[in-house]
Amino acid sequence: MCGIVGYVGAKNAVPFLLQGLSKLEYRGYDSAGIAVRTNDSIEIIKKRGSIQNIKDIIGARELNSRIGIGHTRWATHGNPTDENSHPHVSSCGRIAVVHNGIIENYIELKEKLTELDIKFNSETDSEVVAQYIGYLYKTNKNIFECILETVKVLQGSFALCIICQDCPEKLIVVKKDSPLIIGVSEGENYVASDVPALLSYTNKVCRLPEKSVAIVTADEFKLYDFDKNVIEKKLDLVNWSVDSAEKSGYEHFMMKEIMEQATAVKSTISPRINLDLNNNLVKLDNITFSEEYLKNLEKICIVACGSAYHVGCVAKYFIEEILRIPVEIDLASEFRYRNPIVKNSLVVVISQSGETADSLAALREAKKLGARVISIVNVFGSSIATESDDVLYTYAGPEIAVATTKAYSTQLVSAYLLTLKLCELLQKRTLNYDKIMQDIKKLPEKIEKILENKNSIHDIAKKYYNYEKVFFIGRNIDYAVCMEGSLKLKEISYVHSEAYAAGELKHGTISLIDDNTLVIALATQTKLVDKMISNVREVRARGARVLFVASENCQEKLHEVAEDVIVIPEISDLLSASLSVIPLQFFAYYIALYRGCNIDKPKNLAKSVTVE
Ligand code: AGP
Repeated sequence: MCGIVGYVGAKNAVPFLLQGLSKLEYRGYDSAGIAVRTNDSIEIIKKRGSIQNIKDIIGARELNSRIGIGHTRWATHGNPTDENSHPHVSSCGRIAVVHNGIIENYIELKEKLTELDIKFNSETDSEVVAQYIGYLYKTNKNIFECILETVKVLQGSFALCIICQDCPEKLIVVKKDSPLIIGVSEGENYVASDVPALLSYTNKVCRLPEKSVAIVTADEFKLYDFDKNVIEKKLDLVNWSVDSAEKSGYEHFMMKEIMEQATAVKSTISPRINLDLNNNLVKLDNITFSEEYLKNLEKICIVACGSAYHVGCVAKYFIEEILRIPVEIDLASEFRYRNPIVKNSLVVVISQSGETADSLAALREAKKLGARVISIVNVFGSSIATESDDVLYTYAGPEIAVATTKAYSTQLVSAYLLTLKLCELLQKRTLNYDKIMQDIKKLPEKIEKILENKNSIHDIAKKYYNYEKVFFIGRNIDYAVCMEGSLKLKEISYVHSEAYAAGELKHGTISLIDDNTLVIALATQTKLVDKMISNVREVRARGARVLFVASENCQEKLHEVAEDVIVIPEISDLLSASLSVIPLQFFAYYIALYRGCNIDKPKNLAKSVTVE
């Protein structure tokens, strides 16, 4: 969603603002803008459309300033127009603001300010922030105090970066329920809403704590709470390399990230299990469970959105089979509104970004209800990671493509590891446990094999890219993987598809099957192959073409009933999702490529959804 950058220091701010915004493009946006302080005024350049428009306006002009802010906007309140783009400026013209999040009480504030004769120039919720600060500034020339007074009246979520014409050396930043980071360097400091904007400049960062304000100058920054009390600063070193957020020769980030999955899975499992020795214990970072807690543990609740929710759907099968503890899985946006019962439950929140507003709200609800929350998160120090009781980090590296791939795979193995640890502690290790553990160790090498085979999936996709109706069908874990395959296809190729439990089609949906339908059937669960063949015969009889994705040990007989069969290496049935999802990612990618879609930035979507 929206992106923020800011700079104060000895150099010209403009190159960083433009490059930083480009690095945040992946989050999704529909307009962009920057504000820099010149000797006479605050100069604003903002435009609907891509960042290139801003670059074109600046052109050969020597726009030079030691301080500035920038923004990419993903429209929520008001259309994507030049006027609605950020930065927004106060009526006095001396204060410019960029904002991520939503000001929930903006209508009330706008009415109040309009009665005071303040003219608004946009339809956005964000402009009220600039106008409110500007209104206070008329009578109090201490900009920091005006900002503190303003944040107290704002309701909703806001990350703000503010410059004032009369304070040539200060950026003021605010964080509530939307991420903001200060990047620290010698003689210059940066601000960004997300790490990739900073990677080429510094790896030393301070993630602003919840409800904090910082005054950032070229040489230092000071951190306060909303009551002006000084807060201790905590600096982290980001260990993502500059290259990790570059395409490195690939045409799209999505392909690069698909191809990184063997490495990402290995990086996530290797610190936690011993890959070489015959040692089958899991070392789960510093997460511990008391005997008392385990004795009372009755249920596991998994809460997430989108693909992370689909990880939860697979994990439910895995956990219930191995631990024999019931698992409930909720979409985060639904969880908090259904009065969930979390007594004696462990709540697991899964999120790549760690900033998804729905997941964060669900986490807070779970904690309010007294549950212990463990999160599985990719972004270090993110809000979900910080607010959980424990975090299991995935080591996927930065994920830039909107369509998640390596984050899904690393979340899945993290869920396996958490389950095996609980299994060990609850003394439920069986023969199955050891086999699963051995197979988890083999996952990177088996994933690599599928990655090597990508060209064959490219050829298959060529046959089917014109289909407008696709069904993904499977049973058990395969059904859960179908949901992810279907989402991948929908989000990047805009082909309508549905994931269906194979046995459920005949209860209504089969009426949609005709000779314009492609059915992608998954068969990795040995005990269910024959049932899948029967379901495939049903759709074939109604004219559908069928592509099977099947494990080596399940493939026999499938060629007779399908046009194409993609074979994945043999693995324990319970782990098959980690392999079967990969051909589906490739398939979605190639279909989108053939259809000429914008693969890394699909329309209407944002990488990190920070509004509810
Ligand atoms: C999947 O490809 C998505 N882009 C989306 O569903 C995503 O998984 C979801 O928005 C959750 O994001 P998170 O993992 O950052 O919380």
